[in-house]
Amino acid sequence: MTPIQKCIRKKELSLKPIWLMRQAGRYLPEFRKLRKLNTNFIKLCLNSNLSSKITLQPLKRFNLDAAIIFSDILIVPYVLGQSVEFKKDFGPKLNNLDLEKISQNKELDFSKKLLPVYQSIEKVNKSELILQKDIIGFVGAPWTLLVYMINKCSPKKKLEENFFKDKNLIKETLLILEKFLKIHIKNQIKYGATIIQIFDSWAGLLEDKNLQDYIYTPTLNLVNFVKSLNVPVVCFPREIKNYKEYCKIIKPDVINIDYKINPETIRKEIDIVIQGGLDPKILLTNKDKLKVEAKKYLEIFKDHPYIFNLGHGVLPETDPQMVDYLIKFVKSY
Ligand code: CP3
Repeated sequence: MTPIQKCIRKKELSLKPIWLMRQAGRYLPEFRKLRKLNTNFIKLCLNSNLSSKITLQPLKRFNLDAAIIFSDILIVPYVLGQSVEFKKDFGPKLNNLDLEKISQNKELDFSKKLLPVYQSIEKVNKSELILQKDIIGFVGAPWTLLVYMINKCSPKKKLEENFFKDKNLIKETLLILEKFLKIHIKNQIKYGATIIQIFDSWAGLLEDKNLQDYIYTPTLNLVNFVKSLNVPVVCFPREIKNYKEYCKIIKPDVINIDYKINPETIRKEIDIVIQGGLDPKILLTNKDKLKVEAKKYLEIFKDHPYIFNLGHGVLPETDPQMVDYLIKFVKSY
């Protein structure tokens, strides 16, 4: 059993496995080199030779306990027929959501279009760099994908007034997403993913009264689906106001916390496996500060099953040497 599986399934306390969100990305010069030659980000995700190579780049450098497959949560709306572009220094830009169009998708076509992602998982699975390590497959939570599909770009601090105007559009889109996200999850597992992480990056935007319909119900359906396939599921409802209530309702195998939450409070409130928390900005400071902060998390979670990770992705301006230092520090603690 891998260190992460021991931590999740056996609640091992002596192991503090580590992987990092966005561990394959722009902070690595070898990634930037490949990215420069491949200006279309979605196409890069759908090139299994390159995406498997990028997935393994951080594992060549660092003693990480998992690889996260190089793809994006927005690949699902893209494949459903809502085009997505990644503009430099702007982020994703989607075109209009066409319910009629996305309703016509068929399971077989959908899986066929995503085959390069699955082949990438298969390639990573065959590498010797992945021995005794996990392969993390992922999806965006229906709520976060809905935000992008309706808003058409990353939202500001607040959603626009008329976001919730078309209730039928929202209801139907969430149902379509649920159906195809289940297919995407099933396929990733079939090709070798050993953990599924559900990213709900915009969970913090919702008022309490809307949580049930937009987050709890659709996410619970996905979580129960992953569990039925006997694969652990990690949820990351970034900046959700009440992690305790979320865990009580959703019951994921692992909860990833963001960096704004007090880790000590969370540990007292939650009895499931915890992942993450460290502010990625700490990696921009210096080794002494990094050591102090990393130690804080390791001490707080000494007697709690814990997977070391960040409270959000590695920032592009991060020095790879700081990442190296962090991983060595956690591994030798
Ligand atoms: O290393 C990994 O974590 C695996 C690959 C991965 C990417 N995106 C690659 C990526 C994963 C798991 C994601 C998830 C993702 N994508 C989320 C959830 C996590 C989060 O960050 O909140 C979200 C909201 C997205 C949507 C998205 N993709 C945005 C907002 C952006 C632009 C902003 C940015 O960080 O660049 C992307 C682009 C993206 N996805 C890049 C990478 C490596 C950068 C692309 C580039 O090289 O320009």
